[in-house]
Amino acid sequence: MTTELSPPVFDAFALQHRPDPYSRYALVREATPFLDSGFGVEFVTRHAECTQILSETLWSHRDEAELFHPDAAKVDLPTSFLWMDPPDHTRLRRLVSKAFTPKSVTDLRPRITALVGELLDAALEKGTVEAIEAIAYPLPLIVICELLGVEDTELVHRVGPHLARGFDPDFVLSPEECTNRDQASRDILQHFRELIALRRREPKNDLVSGLTQVYDSGDVLTEDEMLATCVTMLIAGHETTVNMVGNGLLAFLRNPEQLALVRANPELSGPAVDEVLRYDSPVHMTTRTAKQDLVVGDRTFAEGHNVCVLVGSANRDPRAFEDPDAFDVTRYASSAATPRHLGFALGIHYCMGAALARLEGDILFEQLAQRVRTIDQAGDLVYRPNLLIRGLRELPLTLT
Ligand code: HEM
Repeated sequence: MTTELSPPVFDAFALQHRPDPYSRYALVREATPFLDSGFGVEFVTRHAECTQILSETLWSHRDEAELFHPDAAKVDLPTSFLWMDPPDHTRLRRLVSKAFTPKSVTDLRPRITALVGELLDAALEKGTVEAIEAIAYPLPLIVICELLGVEDTELVHRVGPHLARGFDPDFVLSPEECTNRDQASRDILQHFRELIALRRREPKNDLVSGLTQVYDSGDVLTEDEMLATCVTMLIAGHETTVNMVGNGLLAFLRNPEQLALVRANPELSGPAVDEVLRYDSPVHMTTRTAKQDLVVGDRTFAEGHNVCVLVGSANRDPRAFEDPDAFDVTRYASSAATPRHLGFALGIHYCMGAALARLEGDILFEQLAQRVRTIDQAGDLVYRPNLLIRGLRELPLTLT
């Protein structure tokens, strides 16, 4: 049986609030910057405190699922640098960035442009589509698979949602979801083991081949480090971006005047991506553990204290953002004073794929505005149960 977090703990996480956790966040955020969860993790609700914690290196990032339920039997996924501290984190991130360069991202522009064109052609021809399956899922799936060199997109489509759900605390997962997550982990590890061996023998022009060849001051990636990096890039690079596209389409559906603004001013498609990431963040939270006694605002957290930074709440904090519940594509275009949203986090774990995600969103929203006159809802919205990587499972739309 799945145990949902009950109102005394934090009502925003109850399943019925998945479509709109924001009004619940607001209640807690206005009452307090910190809320004891009752299970060893303290929620941080406001932008200033969340920003401080994410920016400071004296907070460790531990695997959310483990932190929330350390005794769970789990498949041995090698630890990703996403959950490491310096100096290991620094060493691995530097090695990975030698293969995943800014040029490898900008080189993808023509391919992403063509892909977006094909997906919109097909959707417009059909008229009514389930937009997650028709647009939001395939775009980042194909891009990340081609970037890494993964040919079996079917496998990624099958395991991705189970792995994304695996970021959530174990006590909100059903036994079936735990089994699916563990099987998905085994399948994807096996796939990458084989792919890495293949690319070592016959390198191609892809990221897995690049990772087998990185070398920095005598340092190379071990087999486990490569495996962990590949799985992280695949899931962090895919399941999050699906929700950026899905949440963005929903925001434009509900705010057609904002799509008209992008149509009239195509240069707003880039700032619109950041506004989607602020307004309806794909990643709703991340955890940190104090490495020593640390002061945040008027609180002292003892060494070992765990906090859960509520990105989705911080991004709607009226102390940081004017009219925070409005979706405004000019917000990040017109004012350099707009504070940073936390959608890609901040500090040493700042999203490594931010440039790629921005490129995908920028191209999609620009073409959407230019080619689609009207977006209408064509059925009920269905949300995934996920807490950490939050977004839609079904978004039926009619595009003309
Ligand atoms: C809109 C899409 C995306 C969102 C919202 C997003 C969000 C995030 C966030 C919030 C973090 C920090 C996690 C934490 O501190 O707990 C992160 C880290 C990371 N992301 Fe993304 N991400 C996106 C797309 C991508 C893409 C496309 C890739 C790869 C191609 C990627 C790769 C990574 C990696 C490798 C890390 C770990 C960085 C580190 O620990 O140093 N992400 N992402």
